[in-house]
Amino acid sequence: MSNIKAAITGVQGYVPDYVLTNKELEKMVDTTDEWITTRTGVKERHILKGEGQGTSVMGIEAVKGLLKKTNTHPSEIDLLICATVTPDMVFPATANLIADAVGAKNAFSYDIGAACSGFLYALTTGSQFIETGRYKKVVIVGADKMSSIVDYTDRTTCIIFGDGAGAVMLEPSVEGFGIQDHILRSDGSGMPHLHMKAGGSRRPASVETVMAKEHFVYQEGSAVFKFAVTNMADVSAEIMEKNGLASEDVSWLVPHQANKRIIDATATRMGVGSDKVMLNIHRYGNTTSGTIPLCLWDYEQQLKKGDNLVLAAFGGGFTWGSVWVKWAYDPK
Ligand code: UT7
Repeated sequence: MSNIKAAITGVQGYVPDYVLTNKELEKMVDTTDEWITTRTGVKERHILKGEGQGTSVMGIEAVKGLLKKTNTHPSEIDLLICATVTPDMVFPATANLIADAVGAKNAFSYDIGAACSGFLYALTTGSQFIETGRYKKVVIVGADKMSSIVDYTDRTTCIIFGDGAGAVMLEPSVEGFGIQDHILRSDGSGMPHLHMKAGGSRRPASVETVMAKEHFVYQEGSAVFKFAVTNMADVSAEIMEKNGLASEDVSWLVPHQANKRIIDATATRMGVGSDKVMLNIHRYGNTTSGTIPLCLWDYEQQLKKGDNLVLAAFGGGFTWGSVWVKWAYDPK
């Protein structure tokens, strides 16, 4: 093992302007603000509007802001990874489009699709290139335009999701800051509970698939909820036990924002008080790959050098995992 760790040296988020409130959803489907708030914690979500506007639009904004903030010239980026399940196109990768738009001419770039765990998968993958000493600047983006695959007549899914993107910069640290450990898991037998039926090679798009609404998120909510509660809590507790982290050692839990009840259960299992839990589900809903970097962005000014962060997620696949990060900088 090298003594180089991959430190997060900057974070930036982006959400589109348009805000879809629970009140507005009440007019679209048979639901209430009260039901959505108590069952999920979501109050509003941002939606990317406009013809030809894909996920890359949000990723580009997040990365541009990140480069400015970290004083990085785009030519310095070695690698850019974008976690997404709503790429602009099946190919090329959305990461390629983002890298091109920001002028990252020397970077190679690719997408990672691991649904709600995508950002953790991408972060861990990108960190390996830093830890080997091969690369100096790696950008990890988590971005999803969930509104492009949500059926706004289905009250069980349309209330949860939103659009957004976040990006972090990874750079080498020889002082011990950065990613300390990770536990990542997947189980494809979870597919029946959460998937998109058509549009892939198994069932290519056709008039029939469109008429049958098979290009939208299909989710068996309560089944997924049970797996999510158990696995996200387990994997968060596991990374603490494995590394001898007591509850009081954890400065922040940075959970995927799928449902406030899942977040609360994870925090309880870890013995972490609600004042140490990053929460923005009420403002953005579930932005899939975007949730964790958007949390880091919102809470950046409260983070101190040396803080222990436990990042945790669960999502489609199934995929889940936790990452222990030692924060590398004080508020600027
Ligand atoms: O992010 C990646 C992975 N995804 C997740 O982690 C999501 C996990 N699942 C969940 O967050 C929750 O299961 C949901 C928020 C999706 C649903 O909440 P729930 O408490 O599990 O509700 P449910 O599906 O068990 O439905 C309970 C009742 C049903 O009515 P009946 O059959 O009891 O009469 C639903 O029809 O609530 C009804 N319902 C609604 N009522 C008002 C479902 N959606 C709504 C709604 N407004 N929007």
